[in-house]
Amino acid sequence: MRFLSAFFSSIFLLSLFVACESAGKKNVSHTKVIADSEFDNHSYSNIRKIRTKHLHLDLDVNFEKKKIYGVARHEMENFGADTAIFDIKGLEIQKITLGKTIEKETDFLIGQWDKDSVLGQPLLVKITPKTKYINIYYQTTEKTEAIDWLSPELTTGKIHPYMYTQGQAILTRSWIPLQDSPANRLTYSAKVSVPKDLMALMSAENPTEKNADGVYEFEMKQAIPCYLIALAVGNLTYRKLGPSCGVYSEPEMIYSCVNEFVDLPKMIDAAEKLYGKYQWEQYDLIVLPYSFPFGGMENPRLTFVNPTLLVGDRSLVSVIAHELAHSWSGNLVTNASWDDFWLNEGFTVYFENRIMESLYGKEIADMLALIEFQELQVDLKEIAASDHPEDTKLKLKLAGRNPDDGMTDIAYVKGAFFLKTIEKTVGREKMDIFLKAYFKKYAFQTITTEKFVTFLNTQLLQPNKLSFNSNEWIYKEGIPNNCIKIVSPRFEAAQQLADRFAAGEDIFKKEIKWLKIKGRKRKKKLIIQLTRDKYVAQEWQAFVRRLPTTIDPELMRKLDANLHFKTWENAEVRTEWFTLGIRSGYLEIRPNMERFLLKVGRRKYLSPIYSELAKTPENLAWAKSVFEKAKGNYHFVSRSSIQRILYKK
Ligand code: BES
Ligand code: ZN
Repeated sequence: MRFLSAFFSSIFLLSLFVACESAGKKNVSHTKVIADSEFDNHSYSNIRKIRTKHLHLDLDVNFEKKKIYGVARHEMENFGADTAIFDIKGLEIQKITLGKTIEKETDFLIGQWDKDSVLGQPLLVKITPKTKYINIYYQTTEKTEAIDWLSPELTTGKIHPYMYTQGQAILTRSWIPLQDSPANRLTYSAKVSVPKDLMALMSAENPTEKNADGVYEFEMKQAIPCYLIALAVGNLTYRKLGPSCGVYSEPEMIYSCVNEFVDLPKMIDAAEKLYGKYQWEQYDLIVLPYSFPFGGMENPRLTFVNPTLLVGDRSLVSVIAHELAHSWSGNLVTNASWDDFWLNEGFTVYFENRIMESLYGKEIADMLALIEFQELQVDLKEIAASDHPEDTKLKLKLAGRNPDDGMTDIAYVKGAFFLKTIEKTVGREKMDIFLKAYFKKYAFQTITTEKFVTFLNTQLLQPNKLSFNSNEWIYKEGIPNNCIKIVSPRFEAAQQLADRFAAGEDIFKKEIKWLKIKGRKRKKKLIIQLTRDKYVAQEWQAFVRRLPTTIDPELMRKLDANLHFKTWENAEVRTEWFTLGIRSGYLEIRPNMERFLLKVGRRKYLSPIYSELAKTPENLAWAKSVFEKAKGNYHFVSRSSIQRILYKK
């Protein structure tokens, strides 16, 4: 590694220089380093002075070493800078060169880690005001947090290894050295070498078949924020689901995938009818291994999906509607910083619900919204009592914190209910015209909350002479009084059933009915009994949530005997069943729960279960023993969250 002498000239860079490890004389805090990038507190990059407009990646994916050996070739738009600053985290930088056809090595400097190791390190590269091409030769390390390397046992086929990346929010810098801010958009291309028996896919134009030499080339022609650069490599196969959509997975689960996601073409039609043409040509899904820490991740052209969605009864397809909606909110119009995260997620949850309504009707959409609204109430209480009660505002101030802290139901559900309340005030027709115009106007741009407010005022509220308390929704804590109320008779009926059951009624009592059949003298005897298929998953979720916070294990046993919650493939209901079981001392769920914890890595399910277990010493000890066995199958995102829950660090 070559170190520099005196090339950093500006005052900002001098203070940064002093903060760097290699020259660390004075104790200059890392906040000074950030000061240049006020618009994004989570990136060291100086994108206002120089920014990447195209990135080409040369990658060699090595499963034996669990490493990527790479070159990140940045084509820059340079506004006269003599230093380019990139973000890195847990990467080893070998050398950096300048130039396109002829490359010349240049000096670089790696800054200190930030206090909590959230941001990683700034990488400063010496350039000239005319520099356009910067090539960073690097490799990933065990500290690379974005990548999950899976040995064959952790896949469904159990023969081939697998790997995938997760970039959002600020993990892309741990597998590619780049300017890791959503405020910049870039196009990218890549050449990726993988073992010959595996297929590589990216958030780009993709192959549908394996090729013989294991070298895959990719191109993403539309400019995207870099948290959406993604890669997956495994034994994969493809099936078409419609004219421009389909699904990838390991061959062993492709049939279930096709069955679960048959409605995808209809969802795309519904979305386009609502808010304009789909802008990314192709929309595919890849169903990843169970360790994937999210339900879905909206990587453009290739949504990453958790296999827990393969319930068999299509009861979790709203996650697909959600990720598809991100093709507009998030991928087309992107939050400028993680403080504006609600612009990505709140709009997406609103849009998701509209897609669900188009396909499955208002009753289903309302129940889904009510389920989310109940979750919001829990988050609101928790956040209000936490060290950061201000986190119930839509616009956040996450400087000095992990942007993951903003991933709460405030952004998702308060954000969506803000839009639902506006819709109710102005009427659906005007709302849809407004949203269509919003996606058109800001397509392929990043947007701040403030810009959105101006657009809302000038395009929707003022022309209709309406006043609306947007500022209260965005800049004040809690939920404003004008928030719409959703009434769902089906949801209420499920709650009443729970009340009756908890009060001791035998809801499984057999009823005998006599049915008259045309042309037959004798009536037919019908035995009617409550079974799980009488209601949809959302109704059962309403039912389980309505039961008392702890109940007699005997009652849980009775429900399981009739409704089989503890083995239901619907992980939403199962997770809530497990947490109720832990609170109620319903011990025989343990083997089942253990199997679930060993198999599934989605944080949304792991967190509540481990948190509930952490409440008593005996359960905590059991949870730790399970976690120690399971953690090799969790992605960094989930592993670190659960570590904090169990070990409070
Ligand atoms: N983009 C998010 C996932 C995400 C957010 C990853 C922030 C990292 C940082 C994705 O669209 C999402 O919201 N997934 C949800 C699904 C959903 C239906 C709300 C999830 O995984 O739970
Ligand atoms: Zn989302």
